Amino acid sequence: MNQQRPDAQAGDAHQSSSDARRLATPVTTPATSPADAASIANAARLLEQGKLVAFPTETVYGLGADASNAQAVAGIFAAKGRPSNHPVIVHVARDADLSRWATQVPPEAVRLIEAFWPGPLTLILPRAASVPAAVAGGQDTIGLRCPAHPVAQALLLAFRDGQGGLAAPSANRFGHVSPTTAQHVIDEFGAPGHGALAAVLDGGHCEVGIESTIIDMSRLDTHGPVLLRPGQISAAQIAAVIGRMPALPDQAAPRVSGSLDAHYAPSTPVALVDGSGLSALLQQLQAAGHAAVLISYSASLATLSGVHLPDDPDGYAHGLYASLREMDARDASVILVERPPQDEAWQGVNDRLRRAAFDSAGVLETLLRG
Ligand code: TXA
Ligand code: MG
Repeated sequence: MNQQRPDAQAGDAHQSSSDARRLATPVTTPATSPADAASIANAARLLEQGKLVAFPTETVYGLGADASNAQAVAGIFAAKGRPSNHPVIVHVARDADLSRWATQVPPEAVRLIEAFWPGPLTLILPRAASVPAAVAGGQDTIGLRCPAHPVAQALLLAFRDGQGGLAAPSANRFGHVSPTTAQHVIDEFGAPGHGALAAVLDGGHCEVGIESTIIDMSRLDTHGPVLLRPGQISAAQIAAVIGRMPALPDQAAPRVSGSLDAHYAPSTPVALVDGSGLSALLQQLQAAGHAAVLISYSASLATLSGVHLPDDPDGYAHGLYASLREMDARDASVILVERPPQDEAWQGVNDRLRRAAFDSAGVLETLLRG
C-alpha cells in the first residue's frame, strides 16, 4: 500500500470538460524531480542544519524539521501561520527507539505499532521530558508516526543515522487543504530555496490522500484508547487488534488542530449534496447565473462537468484533496460535492468533507436567492 498509483492525478478519470480544465489548470514548470538518493541525503543534511524540508508520506506531504531543535520547529509554525499551541507529529524511522520520545509505550500501543507501522497511524503517548515542549504545543504528550512512503523512510534513515525524529505537520498553510503532490507544496510555500522551504522531495501523488488516523493512548487508565482523527485505518481495524473499540473524542481530549471545524477548506465555498438532486441543482444554479463545479463518484453523474472520483473510499480519499484544489482553481461560485455513503469505511473522507464545507453553510440558498 505504500506504492505509488500509476493514475497520478485525481481528475484523470473524467470526461466532458477537458477544455475548461486546460484553461483553469495553472501552467507550471515542474520545480522538482523525483527524489533520488542524492537529493534525500542532501535533504537530511539540510534538516540537520535546522532547515525546513517538505517530504512525501503515504498520507499527505509533511513540512519537516528536526524535532529535537526547538528553533527549527518554531520555523514550521511561522511558515504555516499555525498557532503555537497546536502540537505536531514526530515521524520516526522503522525500529526507532521510542523511549527517546515517549515515557511509556503501553502493550496495546505496541500491538498497534506491530500491526500498522510503517503506515498511516499516529499514536499519542506520554511525552519524554527531553522532547521540546514546542513540538507538542505545550502538551505533556507526543504524537508519533512511522510513515510507509519509501522516500520518507529513506529520509528518516539518512537523518541523524536513523536515530532522529522529524516534526512534520501537513505541508500547507494553516486551514488550507493538505498537499498530496510536490507541486501542491510549492503552490503553498513557493519554490524551494526562495521561500520558507530549503527543499521539497518529490515522491509522486500520495497513495492514501488523507491524513493519518490518530489514536490517543496517553490516558488509557482513565479514558481508554480515543480516536482523535479518523483516517484510512478504521476504528474497527484498531478494535480488531487491541480487542476494544476506541472512544470518540471528548472535551478533555488533547487538542487536535485537524478537529477545528473549519479546516482542510478550499477558498471556494463547498456544499455537500445528495447525488439524486445534483443534476437539477446544477441547472438551477446555471439559470441563476452561477458557475458551479462538481465532485462526484456515482456512475450516473460521471458525465457532468467536474471531477469524477472512484466509488470506493480508498480510491476516493486518494483523489479528494487534489480534486478540491483543482476545482478551487476554477473560480466557480460553489464546489458541489456528491455526499458519499455514511458507513464506517467512509468516515475519514466524510470527516474531511464536513470540515471543508463547514464555513459554507447556507451558500446554496444564498446563490439561488440571488
Ligand atoms: O498523515 C499525517 O498525519 C500527516 C503526515 C505529514 O504525517 N501529518 C499531519 O500533521 O496531518 P498535522 O500537524 O497537519 O496534523 C497532526 C494532528 C494535529 O491535529 C495535531 O493537533 C495532532 O495531530 N497532534 C499532534 N500531536 C499531538 C498531541 N501530542 N496530542 C494531541 N494531538 C496531537
Ligand atoms: Mg494539517
